[in-house]
Amino acid sequence: VGVVTYAAMEGNNTDLDPAMLQTKKVVVQRVVDAIRAAFGSEIDPNPMVTPATKEEFGDFQCNAAMGLAKSLKKKPRDVATAIVEKLDIADLCVTPPEIAGPGFINLKLTDEYVKAKMKHALQDKERLGIAKRDPAQRIIVDFSSPNIAKEMHVGHLRSTIIGDCLCRILEFLGHDVLRLNHVGDWGTQFGMLILYLREVAPEALVDGSDLDLGDLVVFYKKAKARFDEDPEFQESARKEVVKLQAGDEESLRGWKTLCNQSRIEFNRVYDILDVKLEERGESFYNPFLKQVVTDLQEKQLAVENEGAQCVFLEGFTSRDGSTQPLLVQKSDGGYMYSTTDLAAIRHRTHVEKATRVLYVTDVGQSTHFEQVFQVARRAEFYPPSVSLEHVPFGLVQGEDGKKFKTRSGDTVRLRDLLDEAVVRCKADYTRRMEEEGRAETSEYVEEVSKVVGIAAVKYADLKNNRVSNYRFSYDKMLTLTGNTAPYMLYAYARIQGIYRKGGIDITSRVTSLDLKLDKPEEMSLVRLCLRFDQILEVLETDLKPNFLCEYMYEVASKFNAFYENCSVLNAESERVMESRLAICDLTARTLALSFSLLGIKTLERL
Ligand code: ARG
Repeated sequence: VGVVTYAAMEGNNTDLDPAMLQTKKVVVQRVVDAIRAAFGSEIDPNPMVTPATKEEFGDFQCNAAMGLAKSLKKKPRDVATAIVEKLDIADLCVTPPEIAGPGFINLKLTDEYVKAKMKHALQDKERLGIAKRDPAQRIIVDFSSPNIAKEMHVGHLRSTIIGDCLCRILEFLGHDVLRLNHVGDWGTQFGMLILYLREVAPEALVDGSDLDLGDLVVFYKKAKARFDEDPEFQESARKEVVKLQAGDEESLRGWKTLCNQSRIEFNRVYDILDVKLEERGESFYNPFLKQVVTDLQEKQLAVENEGAQCVFLEGFTSRDGSTQPLLVQKSDGGYMYSTTDLAAIRHRTHVEKATRVLYVTDVGQSTHFEQVFQVARRAEFYPPSVSLEHVPFGLVQGEDGKKFKTRSGDTVRLRDLLDEAVVRCKADYTRRMEEEGRAETSEYVEEVSKVVGIAAVKYADLKNNRVSNYRFSYDKMLTLTGNTAPYMLYAYARIQGIYRKGGIDITSRVTSLDLKLDKPEEMSLVRLCLRFDQILEVLETDLKPNFLCEYMYEVASKFNAFYENCSVLNAESERVMESRLAICDLTARTLALSFSLLGIKTLERL
């Protein structure tokens, strides 16, 4: 038995010991101390501690020896041995640590430490002992961002689902997150649309009009066609834009009505998805656009080019070898999508004081953001400590890998897409209930279908590496096997089923100190669950929800192995049963927390 110094192990300390829960931090500090003790305090003690890549390697791996060996001109294995000799870690890890390969130091937490940590996690059932970041960061997440008078498409769905998930993770970590919906609610297209509607459907422009977004989209297409073929209409549309931009009351009223109608549809989708967003569209930045261009000119970044204002970019060359410009003002005085983004960067970093800004859009906009970020940096529009990050994602494709469309070739309305998932889920579920001879109330079936259907759409999206394209398939996302939402939700409900069967009230149960985790399946599952904080650490920087989905799937798989090999309710002794119930609790809470970070509701019973 290793030396256990943590007061918690004596059983007289009910407070959480934060140091205990941030195991990696402690390990890193010990390694740093050891390197200094072995090679002197002048040395750069880069500890290079990472989670172990394989279970048999233990819990952590220290890769410092290889780098140090180079600068010290020693053999890596000798360096590793010297570090291990000075490493004072017996209260956490099995000693002496194993040295593997050229000089990896494998660190395995002692069983006692794991048990103590598990108990701590279960004393803080909501957060599982995971501390909030201190200091917290002010982070803006710009996501969803559909366009007024246009249908919200599957790209916006991905942005909404991924963006919401990232917000939930960052919020959980204690950051101060502002969720912004940068809707496309400004631009020359509104002149054209208002003009056209005034001609053909003036009632659409007054408050309380019952036009829905679908009608608007149709009008939008017709207005565009008219604009393209009729020069006179074009001219009037331009004048209309000028009127709107000058704040003409009637134009503004029409524009607001269009925004309201679109917003109703957007909000329906957000309600179904349970996503909260603050709308701050392009129009919000309109008053600041002129200043952006003036400042760019003053800094001699913006120059005139054929009547337009451009900034010549570094590292972007056109095909003919000339430097590519970023257009910030057209020759007719109109501003660009990028001008708005430049104004938004200033506002977000100076007024909102964000130190990190994330933009969740499809990869197609990568160049746009690279260029805008570059110009903003060169113009010193934001403090150098701020991090602006484009968080790109791939296309949503149909099952055939082609563009995602309805059978008739139209764009799929998001509300229909989500409804369809629920309907299919209900059909599946009802059939299964019949097969099993179960009777459930129709409200219950309704509830289950809603939760599972929406979960399926979200999970199918989140579990893919976001940068890849992904094929939308109801059949795949709704199957009960493999890494799908239904499978994961069943895994969670199965654990709740154990409590029901045993008549156990898990919430009021106090995890005993006297945990007995002798079977390999037990230890392996517990160690995995206790890695949650490290998973979150990776997510915080990489912003890839699929990493969390993979983790959950691994937890569920390990739980199955545990459940097959270790009887919970018929365990050989009271003490073993208590331990196993605690393992169930830890697993279920790990899954529940993961689901909540993905924006997915859970069910206690399915
Ligand atoms: N409205 C844009 C679109 O539909 C997305 C806006 C993304 N955010 C931004 N700050 N540019 O493609």
